[in-house]
Amino acid sequence: MDPDGSVQDPEDKEYSSVCVGREDDIKKSERMTAVVHDREVVIFYHRGEYHAMDIRCYHSGGPLHLGEIEDFDGRPCIVCPWHKYKITLATGEGLYQSKNPKDPSAKPKWCSKGIKQRIHRVTVDNGNIYVTLSKEPFKCDSDFYATGDFKVIRSSS
Ligand code: FES
Repeated sequence: MDPDGSVQDPEDKEYSSVCVGREDDIKKSERMTAVVHDREVVIFYHRGEYHAMDIRCYHSGGPLHLGEIEDFDGRPCIVCPWHKYKITLATGEGLYQSKNPKDPSAKPKWCSKGIKQRIHRVTVDNGNIYVTLSKEPFKCDSDFYATGDFKVIRSSS
């Protein structure tokens, strides 16, 4: 029960925003990790924007907070340190390059596998950073490593 006597729906609580740190700190470090309602996330500060996503890569659970950020097809991506999968910071799409087998000399094209990594919402209030977990009802591949037996309890940043 809340202090005002009201009972909070457990689902509302799971999706309430959580303060994860100070804006000044993430602007210096450009990334941080946090546990938000028992889900481990990484928050990036890149070119003036904040992005939060599940910390473990959708492919095999690699530690995305240890990856490099690079642009592919003009889109900033985190590159997973384990097998170099590229994930867009803004949408969580997995990107890959495809070649036209009928025209091997043509330049490979960047394509999207769709949303693979769950993205969470970041807001800033009074110098504090808040993360709100995604409530999007689709099954996202990164959910596998963010819940159940495979989730990381606590990683170092
Ligand atoms: Fe991330 Fe394989 S675990 S690319």
